[in-house]
Order: sequence, then C-alpha cells, then structure tokens
Amino acid sequence: MNVLLIGSGGREHALAWKLAASPLLTKLYAAPGNPGIAQETECVSLAVDDHAAVVAFAKEKNIDLVVVGPEAPLVAGLADELEAAGIRVFGPSKAAAQLEGSKGFTKDLCARYGIPTAAYGRFNNAPKAKAYARQVGAPIVIKADGLAAGKGVTVAMTLDEALDAIDACFEGAFGAAGAEVVVEEFLEGEEASFFCICDGTTALPFGSAQDHKRVGEGDTGPNTGGMGAYSPAPVITAELEARVMREIIEPTMRGMAEMGAPFRGMLFAGLMITEEGPKLIEYNTRFGDPECQVLMTRLKDDLLTLVNAAVDGQLSHMSVRWRDEAALTVVFAAEGYPASPKKGTVISGIESAEDENVQVFHAGTARDSEDRLVANGGRVLNVTAKGANVTEAAARAYAALDKISWEGGFCRRDIGWRAIEREKAAG
Ligand code: AMP
Ligand code: GLY
Repeated sequence: MNVLLIGSGGREHALAWKLAASPLLTKLYAAPGNPGIAQETECVSLAVDDHAAVVAFAKEKNIDLVVVGPEAPLVAGLADELEAAGIRVFGPSKAAAQLEGSKGFTKDLCARYGIPTAAYGRFNNAPKAKAYARQVGAPIVIKADGLAAGKGVTVAMTLDEALDAIDACFEGAFGAAGAEVVVEEFLEGEEASFFCICDGTTALPFGSAQDHKRVGEGDTGPNTGGMGAYSPAPVITAELEARVMREIIEPTMRGMAEMGAPFRGMLFAGLMITEEGPKLIEYNTRFGDPECQVLMTRLKDDLLTLVNAAVDGQLSHMSVRWRDEAALTVVFAAEGYPASPKKGTVISGIESAEDENVQVFHAGTARDSEDRLVANGGRVLNVTAKGANVTEAAARAYAALDKISWEGGFCRRDIGWRAIEREKAAG
C-alpha cells in the first residue's frame, strides 16, 4: 500500500515510525514531515491547508490511504474532499470532527444521550454568559467553543477570573473560536486520556495515557501542549474501561451515527475520574501529542492493519494487543516555551541516546543552512522509553535525554510522578 501521512510533529514521527514497520506498506510519504520523519520515509513539501493540492498529490502517487495527524485539516473537511475524490482516509469527516471543533456540539450530544459530563451553558454574548457564571459561582470553567490550539480554556478559581475570561473570549482573544462560549461546572478528580479506534459503528479501546499539561515541575505554571506522558494510565482499570465504553464512548458512536455523521478515526476522550465515576471533559478527534508517542511504543499489532480495518468498517472482527511494558515520553522543549520558544539552537547526540528501549521522536526540529539539526518550535524532541513499569521507563528516558547535547533546551524532571508514587507504594 502507498500511504500519505499528514502532519509535522512528534505525533506524526511516532506514526511514521510505526507505519514504516508495517508489512503492508509499499511506500510512505509524509507532508510536510520533519527531519526525524525524513529518517523513516520521504517528506514532501505540500501545503496541507491546500486541500486540492493534497488530493492531486494523492492521485498522482496512487495513494491507497491518507492518515491525518492533526485536528485542523479534519475540522476544515480534508477527509471529505479526499473521500469525494475516491481516496481512502483515516480521520473523521468535517461533520464528525465537530466533536473536537465545537465544544458546544459535544456538550449538546452529551445532554441528548445522557453521557456524564460537567453541567454547562452555551452562550453567544457576554452578559448572558456572566449571569450564568454568577449563578453557578467559582470555581468554574470558561471555554472558547472552537479550536484554539489548546489555549481556549480557563479554569477560573475566582468569579472575577471567570468574568475576565468571558470578556476575553468575546473581545476576540481566540478569534472566531471565541464567538461562542461554553461555561461549565468545575470537576474534581484525576484526569486521564482514553483512546478508541473507530470505524463508524464499532469503537475498539486503543489504550490510555496521562499527560502533564503544565510547564513546571509539580504540575505548576502555564498550560502547554503537554510536557510528557506515560501509558497505560493506572487509574483506568479494566472495570473503569468497561464503564467508559458503556456510558461515554458507545452512546457517542450511536449518537453520531444517528445524526448522519458516523465517527471514523481516532477518538480521544479527555476524562475526569470523579467520585461519581468517569466524566467526559472533552473529545479530540485524532491521536494526542505526546500521548501517541507512548501508545505507538506499546502497540504490539500492526498499525496499518488496524487503520485499514477502521476505514473499511471491519473493526468488529479485530482486537488490539499491547506490550506488557509501560512507556513514558519526556518533552525536551526550547527555552522560553510556551510563551516565546527560542529557535535555531543546535542539537546533537540523538543517535547515542537511542537503543532497543529508547526512541527519540522529533517534534519541532529543522535543518539549518549547514545541515545541522536545530530547534524550530516549542516542543522539540520527545525522548521515549519503555520499561517494566513507569519507574523504569522514566529512568531510561531521562538517562537518554542526558546524552543529548542541546544548550537551548529544558525539560520537566518529574514526568510520571503520580504513577511512580503509586508503584513505590505498591512495593
Ligand atoms: P481542554 O482543552 O478542554 O482539554 O481543557 C484543558 C484542561 O482544563 C483540561 O485538561 C483540564 O485539566 C481542565 N478542565 C477542562 N474542563 C474542566 C472542568 N470542567 N473541570 C475541571 N477542569 C477542567
Ligand atoms: N496532549 C494533548 C493533546 O494532544 O490534545
């Protein structure tokens, strides 16, 4: 099979690494890719938001399957345009990608199908949103409805903070994404990410993970895209997984199908495990970044076989097998991230960091005019290791990271702390 992978981050490097190992693969292209992906396969400089160009390339190269990494092209309808041209694609239609593209859409679906989630209101003007926030009181959560690159959510501990966040949304802080606002109840508990591969009808559990969103150790400081992750999430027991499937995922699949927008692709549920049980915080309609890096490290089965089955509506015949080991990834970020990451600093020594248990995925890297590897984004490298448990995976990942020479980088030294404490307590 000829496959085209869309995207350029650490998530896509992990997908390229796993796809490149598939016995079903003839040729893999990545657009636009990055220097790490270029070590696995051929990168092509396609403008991914030019859907017509993506369709033309796929036709020219006899692409049998397009795998879409990031959310923006899905929400913009790339999957629909590929399908209209007769090209198979792993990733939801524009209508189904509303699960990520509109928080209000997802909340209404939850309300209609009795899916446990925080109580909420949807508003298109500040006075009504503020009245609702006053009525509920702090702590309370304010969300821009649309895609805001992970920045549209304010967990307000005081009412003043909530009112300011409402003003910021309607004053355009998130552009069109903030034209509508969801105000919702604050949930308490432990967060976990839960994944399902979906074929429109069947959803198969596809692993769990926990990430660290805050930039600073001890989960402090500003939010980021994620500073590290590990899998599996110890809080997602087999019993809890069955409950999440029954109460959250299956009614979602049913609801989307009834609406004429069956969900095909990777469904990523952000969950809060509360005292009353699991509740949905949000959906993403693609793999997580950096969660994908730990899932691909643990996946025993061939990814391309599973993705094909999803596209062809054949998942009910499939199962997914995982290694017994845990995996953990540490994000090596550029100084100044998340506010203003410094670009252009030189990185070396990645080869000496890798072995049979360690893989370094590239996220924001580039080659400079002298062909040196340099930082070219906020999250730059994902140093990923497997181990008998999270404690061992973390020790291997940090030992590997310390072999990489990069003056301009920093990382959190406590990725996995929750799981490591649990493992210590369990002896
Ligand atoms: P999101 O971008 O929707 O994933 O939200 C970012 C983060 O905000 C989540 O990972 C949670 O930590 C937090 N968050 C979102 N909604 C709630 C809520 N209703 N209660 C508590 N925390 C929340
Ligand atoms: N790491 C969170 C996300 O990919 O949305």
